[in-house]
Formats: sequence, C-alpha cells, structure tokens
Amino acid sequence: VQRIVSGIQPSGRLHLGNYMGALKNWIALQDRYESFFFIADWHALTTNYEDTSPIRQNIREMLVDWLSLGLDPEKCTIFLQSDVLEHAELNLLLSMVTPVSWLERNPSYKDQQTQITGRDLSTFGFLGYPVLMSADILLYRADHVPVGLDQLPHLELAREIARRLRHFYGPVVPEPLPLLTPTPRLLGLDGRKMSKSYKNCIYVGDSSAEIWDKVRPMVTDPARVRRSDPGDPDKCPVFNLHQSFSPPETVQEVDKGCRTAGIGCIDCKKLLVGHIETILQPAREKRQEISARKGFLKDVLQEGGKTASGEARQTIREVRRAMRLPDED
Ligand code: TYM
Repeated sequence: VQRIVSGIQPSGRLHLGNYMGALKNWIALQDRYESFFFIADWHALTTNYEDTSPIRQNIREMLVDWLSLGLDPEKCTIFLQSDVLEHAELNLLLSMVTPVSWLERNPSYKDQQTQITGRDLSTFGFLGYPVLMSADILLYRADHVPVGLDQLPHLELAREIARRLRHFYGPVVPEPLPLLTPTPRLLGLDGRKMSKSYKNCIYVGDSSAEIWDKVRPMVTDPARVRRSDPGDPDKCPVFNLHQSFSPPETVQEVDKGCRTAGIGCIDCKKLLVGHIETILQPAREKRQEISARKGFLKDVLQEGGKTASGEARQTIREVRRAMRLPDED
C-alpha cells in the first residue's frame, strides 16, 4: 500500500475550501492508502504567535470538524503535530541542507508578507515554514500528499529538499507527489480564493441561517440589474459555487435559466444552499454525537500520536544513520 500524509493549520475553523480541496479527498483516500492526517499546530504559530490563546479551542474544533465529516480513526492515523517531537528534529536536520534562497523565492512567503498586515512576518519561523512542512511529509516517507492548489509550491520545495537529502546521504526518503481534487482552488463569497484572511468563507460548522445570511447578499453578474435582465453565469461567483456543489442537472438548469432570465438570483442562491446543506446536515448531526462522547477526542489524538510516533522514530533512526550521526542506542 502507498502512503499519504497531510495536515491543516488550526488557525480557525474548517471552511468549504479546506473541505473541497483537501478533507473530502482524505475521506475518500483513507480506505485505499495508509493515511496520516495531522493538525499542524506549530504551523499555526508561524503567523499567529502573538495571541496564542485560541489555539487549544481551534485544535478541538478542527478535530470535531474532521470526524463529523467522515474522517475515521479506525481507518487512518489522526494526530497533533506537536505530539510528535520528531517533526522538530527532522525540521532541524533539513534546515542544515536548505539554502535560504529557496525559501525567499517561495511565492507564499512573498504573498503573505504583504497580505497579512499588522503583523511582523520577518521571523525565522515564518521563513522556515516550508522546511517544517517538508519535515512533516518526509518524516512519514509519504508517496503522495493530498492538498489544495495553493500548497503546490511548498510541495515542490519538499521534493527539492528530499532530492538534496538523497544527494548527500543516499535514498533515505522518497520524493512525495501531490494529489489534487477536482476543486483544488475553491472560490469564496466574493469570487476570490476562499480563505480565512479574506473573510469570504462558508465554514462547515455554520448553521443553515448563517449560510443563507452569507449567500443571500452575494454579488452576482453586475449587468443583471433587474430580474428580467439576462445574466452571464461566467461572471457570477454563485454559479462558480454551483459548479463545485451542485449536480450537473442543476448546473445546466441555472446556467440556462440565468442566460434567459428564466431564474432569479435569489432562487438560484436557494438551490445552491440546498446542495451545500446536503453535505453539511449529516455532519451537524454527527457533531452532536461526537461532542457527547466524553474523552473521545483526547483518545483519538492519543492513539494517533502513538502510531505516528512509531513511524516517525523509525525515519529519524534511518536519517541519523544515513547522516552518520550517533544512534539512539
Ligand atoms: P491550510 O491549513 O492553509 O489549508 C488546509 C488545506 O486546505 C486547502 N485549501 C484549499 N483548497 C481548495 N480551495 C481553497 N480555497 C483552499 N484553501 C485551502 C489547502 O491547500 C490545504 O490542503 N501548509 C499547510 C498545512 C500543512 C501541510 C503539511 C499540508 C502543514 N504541514 C504537510 C500537507 C503536508 C496549510 O497551511 O494548509
């Protein structure tokens, strides 16, 4: 069996972009791959290091979101990054062979430095973000990494670091390949990429009322002023979401309806919300169930942490040996 690994930062709640780009794939893949999924709490610190108080709550909610949507601890290993200290050791060893220029040219390093305002991101930790991410992946000798489109530059770097490691010390870890979903870059309420920092997200934990309050005011094709004006679906972020969440019949129906002024924007939005609800309603019920099970979340992370640590220790042993470092024993 091939192995996959992936993680999500607990920097807030899970949104539909995370679900469509990553989690949905994880849930499908857990049956076929040996799977490691973790909450990347150290990564969350790279941008949220001033006020760290929400992190515990965020970790809890992230885990509830994962389990309620169908990630199954019987089928995959679910753990917390900081529970497996080997991530830090491999991060350190990889940092020795990673040229700073590789990190400085990383596009998300440049983007985020300008986008996330009001925070000093000229830190060592933030620059080293992709090295830690490479450690996360290489530590489990993963063949594939299921992620959204925005992670591809990071993954490319992980491959380069793996190659460098192999060049210096021999074939200790494989070069990981990405696995994308049909929706590798979901757009948000405003037509830009769905992202916490743009405040354009629908969260998987949102109630029906909250979702409608977000979708109802969405701006549609600006040329469609009156109900009787024909619209251009390709200029409409609501249609864009239909393409990701609605079955082909509905997509066809609203496409035609919009062009011929046969359907109004409010009705079109109601259809969309209906299809999003089809995904989220079962998760809401499961969420209640999970929250009622005392100690369950803690057990999941504890069990997962044990399995992950076992694998991680083995890789570290091999890397130390390949690097001619002193062994544990
Ligand atoms: P993060 O926490 O920003 O996002 C988690 C996952 O969601 C995907 N994603 C999207 N997919 C489609 N459309 C969107 N609008 C959208 N927004 C986010 C991301 O691509 C990602 O797959 N660096 C990672 C966390 C990480 C990691 C790792 C991932 C740390 N170590 C090792 C894989 C392997 C991150 O910040 O993802």
